[in-house]
Amino acid sequence: MPIRSILAGTGAYLPAHIVTNDELALTVDTSDSWIRERTGIGQRHFAAPHETAAFMGTEAARAALANAGAGPDDVDGIILATSTPDQAFPATALRVQAALGVTRGFGFDLAAACAGFIYALSVADGMIRAGQAKGILVIGSEVYSRILNWQDRGTCVLFGDGAGAVFVRAGEGSGCIDRGILSTHIHAQGTLGDILYVDGAVGQPDKPGHLVMHGREVFRHAVTRLAEAVEEALAANGLTRRDVDWLVPHQANARIIDAMGRKLGLSSERVVVTVDRHANTSAASVPLALAEACADGRIRRGDLVLLEALGGGLAWGSALVRM
Ligand code: COA
Repeated sequence: MPIRSILAGTGAYLPAHIVTNDELALTVDTSDSWIRERTGIGQRHFAAPHETAAFMGTEAARAALANAGAGPDDVDGIILATSTPDQAFPATALRVQAALGVTRGFGFDLAAACAGFIYALSVADGMIRAGQAKGILVIGSEVYSRILNWQDRGTCVLFGDGAGAVFVRAGEGSGCIDRGILSTHIHAQGTLGDILYVDGAVGQPDKPGHLVMHGREVFRHAVTRLAEAVEEALAANGLTRRDVDWLVPHQANARIIDAMGRKLGLSSERVVVTVDRHANTSAASVPLALAEACADGRIRRGDLVLLEALGGGLAWGSALVRM
């Protein structure tokens, strides 16, 4: 039997501090109705000073391990997707490794903005299939509140902080019925780098960096690219829209999420939505949504789940998983 990557456990962490649209409107020239109508966002969580990408990633990873019935000794590697690392190095993944008490294996960070978790899952799947590891923690952890430009109301209302994780374990399987990751597809188009970016980093003189976005252009590309990604994932597995039980999309905008749900012909109850409560948590958004729907019993063993995301790069991708 071929090796297959099983999503053995999921976990999540959200900062306790919640900021509603009305609270944001006290300091930003905006309103609850503007934000809600255009994005579906009602509130977001913002990190306290100690809640860094490493801290939140560790908590989500701990929860994913517990959910899988696994412990630190089962972890051969950690791949952490983030655009807001604690430090340039060591990798945030290695801070998580130390905090979890994992004393062997590998760890690295992966930067693919909002598509980071899908990219990380794709890398983990490849490593597990190649026999390089038997257990990999895949984490998305972000503190976008620290890279927002509070003078730009077009972006600062859209993002939140948090972390989600899955523990991916080697199993056996083939075809579309056996458990595990059936496929991942990742894409990028660097020529579109200037429609969504951070205008600095530690490698640039005196420029810590703030998020910049041309929202309409991103919207247009997101709808087209994500629709293509959905078709690609189904075609690669010889499946149709009717086979999909759940869509777990990147949580950037309720209008994009609705468009994807319609594309798949899924009723809204079959689309996992957290953007109303979490806003856009970038690389954390898909694993946070997945963890929530697994924890509350919506997504069950045997369900076919389609994950998709797009973000700065542009970078985008999908993963089709039999839970
Ligand atoms: N509150 C109130 N008014 C706001 C505002 C805010 N927070 N942000 C912008 N506006 C105003 C603008 O100033 C503009 O006013 P004007 O017409 O008087 O100039 C008006 O609202 C329209 O702005 P615009 O940026 O064209 O809005 P939009 O309809 O394109 O909606 C987004 C903006 C960001 C919600 C939308 O483009 C979007 O969702 N894009 C995709 C974003 C995304 O998914 N990004 C993440 C990918 S990972």
